[in-house]
Amino acid sequence: MIFLKQYLIVAGFTVLLVSSKALSNPTTTTKLPLNPPSILLIPNSPTFELEEIAKSNSKKIPGSSSYGRAWRSWSVVGTQHIRSQLYYNLPHPVNNDSTQKLEFELGMAADQGIMPSFADPGSRSGYALDFFCRVHLLADLLVDSLATQDQTTNSHLNITRKDPEFISKSFAKQLHHLFQPHSNTPNSNSAERNACVQMTSIGGGPGYDFVALSLLASYRNIITSCRTNSSCTTTYNNVQSRVFDYEEGWADLVDAMSISTQTVLSFPTLQNRHNHTCQFGGKCDITQPLSHPSNIHLLESIPDTQLFICQYCVAENAVKLRQSNFIFFQQLFQTAEENSLFVFTETTHRLWPDFLDLIRQSSLDYDDVNTVDYNIHFPIHRGRGGSSGWQMFLHKQKGAQISSEILHQIENFRKDHYMHELKLEKGFTRQQKKIRGGK
Ligand SMILES: C[S@@+](CC[C@H](N)C(=O)[O-])C[C@H]1O[C@@H](n2cnc3c(N)ncnc32)[C@H](O)[C@@H]1O
Repeated sequence: MIFLKQYLIVAGFTVLLVSSKALSNPTTTTKLPLNPPSILLIPNSPTFELEEIAKSNSKKIPGSSSYGRAWRSWSVVGTQHIRSQLYYNLPHPVNNDSTQKLEFELGMAADQGIMPSFADPGSRSGYALDFFCRVHLLADLLVDSLATQDQTTNSHLNITRKDPEFISKSFAKQLHHLFQPHSNTPNSNSAERNACVQMTSIGGGPGYDFVALSLLASYRNIITSCRTNSSCTTTYNNVQSRVFDYEEGWADLVDAMSISTQTVLSFPTLQNRHNHTCQFGGKCDITQPLSHPSNIHLLESIPDTQLFICQYCVAENAVKLRQSNFIFFQQLFQTAEENSLFVFTETTHRLWPDFLDLIRQSSLDYDDVNTVDYNIHFPIHRGRGGSSGWQMFLHKQKGAQISSEILHQIENFRKDHYMHELKLEKGFTRQQKKIRGGK
C-alpha cells in the first residue's frame, strides 16, 4: 500500500490524503471504482469531528450568507465520509466499463427521453459512488429555501443574501415547519418530542435523497442543541425515508447507503435521540397509473408522506410519460395530502410546462385558470461546479395562485423545449466524452 502522506486542513481539521490503492475494497475483487474516495479524516472518528465542526458554526445566524457557506463546507466533509463508508459497504464490485456505458447512456436519455437499464449490479455500484453531487444539489436547494424562512424569522437582524430570485415563500414556510427542531418544556407530550420528516423518494436508488435530508436534519439538530437552554429538552428531527424505484436490484445498495449514513451521523451530543432511517419500499413505475400493481407499495405510503423527492427520473422517461398522459403524477398530485411538498430536480427544465398543464387539469373546480391546488416555484440552483439550472418545487395548497413571474418562466421553458425538439429533428447526437490529451 502506498500512502501519499499529504495533509490538508479542512475547516480546521487535519485531513490525510491517501492513494486510491490504499483504499482498495475487499468486496471489489478486480477493478477499483472510477473515483475512489480521496480523503480520510484522522483520528479515526469522522462523527466526532463532524460534530465539532458543526458546533463551531453554531453562532452563525440562520439565513445569513456565512451560515450558508459554513453549511456547504460541513456538508462536503460529511458527504466524503459517507461515500468512504459506502465504498467499504458496497454489496457488489464496481464494473468500470459498464458504469461508463451507463453514464453515457444517461446523457442521451435526457436528450431523447428514454431511460437506460439499471439492471447490472456492477454499474449500480459505480453509479452510487459517482453521483454524490445529487446530495449537494438537493440539500443546498433545501438549505436555500429554509434560508428564506430563516430570514423572515430573523428579520430584526437585517440579514442580506444575494439570491432574490429565490421566491418560494409558501414552500419554505412548510419546509421550515418540518425541519425546525424545537425546545420542549418538561411537560411536553411525547409526540412533540419525536418529530419525523417523512420522505418518499421516487426513482430514488441508491438513496442520495436520504443522505441529503439526513445531513441537513443532523446539522440543524446539532446547532439547535448548542443553543438550547439546559433546562429544556430538544425535539430533534429524524428522517424516515422510503425509496421506490423501477429497478428492484437497488434494494441492497439502499441498505448499504442507509448504514453508511447512520454510521457517520451517529452524534454523541444528540444522545441517541436522533436516528435517521431509510428502507427500500419496493418497485414503482412512474409511467404507469398509481393503481398499477408496480405502484401498490408507493400508493400505500402516500398518506404518511410529507415530502416527495424525484431526482433525475422525469426527463429520462419523457417519451413514456407523455404517452401515458402523465397519469402517474396526475394521480399522485390528486392523492397527496394537503401541505405535501414535492421536489423535482432535472438536468433540464424543458418538462416543467407539462407539469403546469397537469396541475391545471386537476384543478378544474376553479373559474380562474391561474387558481390551482399547488404553489409552484422554480428555484435556480447554482451547482458547486459552476453549472446552474431551474428545478421545480410544489406545495399542495387549495386555491393557490400562479404568479405572473411563474407564467413568464413557463413561456421561456416552452420556447427552450421547442428549440430542443428542432435540434433533435436536425439530427443532433451526443458525442462520447473526449479523453484529455487524446486526439
Ligand atoms: C438517473 S437515475 C436517478 C437516480 C437518483 N434519483 C439520482 O438522483 O441519482 C434514474 C433512476 O430512476 C429509475 N427509473 C427508471 N425508470 C423508472 C420508472 N419508469 N419508474 C421509476 N423509476 C425509474 C432508475 O432505476 C434509476 O434509479
